[in-house]
Amino acid sequence: MKMAEKFYALSRRGFLKSTSAAVMAGTLLPHMGLAKQPVGSTNTLKVGLIGCGGRGAGAASQALQADPNVVLTAMGDVFQDRLDESYNALVEMYPDKVKVDKTHRFIGFDAYKKVIDSDVDVVLLATPPAFRPDHMMAAIEAGKHAFCEKPVAIDAPGVRKVLAAAKKAKEKKVSVVSGFCFRYDYPKRALFQKILNGEIGEIKHVYTVRNGEQLWSKPRQAGWTDMEYQLRNWLYYDWLSGDFITEMMVHSLDLMSWALGDKNPISATGTGGRQSRVDAIYGNAYDHFAVEYDYGKGVKGIHFSRQQDGCSTTNRLEVAGTKGNAFIGSGKHEISGKVNWHYSGEKNDMYQTEHDELFASVRNGKPMNDGEVMARSSMLGVLGRMVAYTGQTITWEDALNSNVALSPAIDQYSWDLKWATAPVARPGITKAF
Ligand SMILES: NC(=O)c1ccc[n+]([C@@H]2O[C@H](COP(=O)([O-])OP(=O)(O)OC[C@H]3O[C@@H](n4cnc5c(N)ncnc54)[C@H](O)[C@@H]3O)[C@@H](O)[C@H]2O)c1
Repeated sequence: MKMAEKFYALSRRGFLKSTSAAVMAGTLLPHMGLAKQPVGSTNTLKVGLIGCGGRGAGAASQALQADPNVVLTAMGDVFQDRLDESYNALVEMYPDKVKVDKTHRFIGFDAYKKVIDSDVDVVLLATPPAFRPDHMMAAIEAGKHAFCEKPVAIDAPGVRKVLAAAKKAKEKKVSVVSGFCFRYDYPKRALFQKILNGEIGEIKHVYTVRNGEQLWSKPRQAGWTDMEYQLRNWLYYDWLSGDFITEMMVHSLDLMSWALGDKNPISATGTGGRQSRVDAIYGNAYDHFAVEYDYGKGVKGIHFSRQQDGCSTTNRLEVAGTKGNAFIGSGKHEISGKVNWHYSGEKNDMYQTEHDELFASVRNGKPMNDGEVMARSSMLGVLGRMVAYTGQTITWEDALNSNVALSPAIDQYSWDLKWATAPVARPGITKAF
């Protein structure tokens, strides 16, 4: 398969939209750690990509289509092959918009700094999530607008760093847009507006379920250190991914939070484990979770998920209110009860809309800030993992104030670093704090 075909799904508009718009000279304004594009400017917006995997290449493609005058000028990754693969795909799709010369293709654990320092306006953060808080903070401190893939953190210290970075973004007047893409989906926006307007009454319960199959893993190659092996298989290491409730199911938890008005729960209780995905190649990740989030006054959010082959699959959200129910699943967005409604309006590509709105905010000088929402939704995943791993009921306050960091400090990473992956958690034995 040709590279461009492989990555074609990354592009809503594909080659047709790949324009020959001139790549203009950069802005003349001095860079002082503040957003440098004057409001209404049509100057070229330069984009840097940090984490050049599948989603990173997708985000770059969407960024390049979001505005008539955007170019990709810097890329960073820890692996040359991953960067090359994405670069080759993107340059084939957008020959006039990918202007990343060899000196701006950075490899290594400090590649993020080099991308950020390379005079870009917008950075796209799409590494495994353990790195996100530090990458985001560095980007915001340098006055860059940031697109931050979900989740934005895998532990409480990371969530607090993201909150601090989001606050700083407001001071610096730069945009922070999250990869919680369902927030950018028109059908979901219409449905949640109705829920939040009270059309199904007061919300009593939200149930989310996402049962899927096992995901990819990469066989160990000769010469790989433990760090390389684990980074290439980052999904299965809690200290890189946060486990799959934090890494993937966080989308469902984000919808749950949205339906409940984006308030913090009081506490959570849960369980989980691994039954199918038991081989050493699956690191210390679980393959199923079930968590109850207690929002007080009898209001609960209940989440259930698994990644096990050979089982039934589903992906649904059900919201029970005092006057009716809301449902998302199988492509449907519906309300039933006192009001009966289903979405029949315009459908959009939510991944593209994220970038359309981000770049519009940069152009019109009205910074967006998804910081608090993306931090809370990520923390729901962290709390879910904590209660499932330990078997304890844990309050939101205790979880958020925890100083337990799962990963090495950002400047400790090296290919020879032997990071002791925790054993597979055992409820009742594993400690949270
Ligand atoms: N919003 C969505 O629907 C969606 C879909 C897929 C993935 N994601 C999220 O996007 C992120 C990336 O996922 P992916 O599927 O692209 O994974 P991936 O493994 O394909 O890509 C990750 C890339 O980051 C690189 N990387 C790892 N550590 C790095 C570091 N310290 N500095 C720079 N680069 C580093 C890897 O080499 C790899 O190229 C994850 O947080 C994932 O949860 C979101």
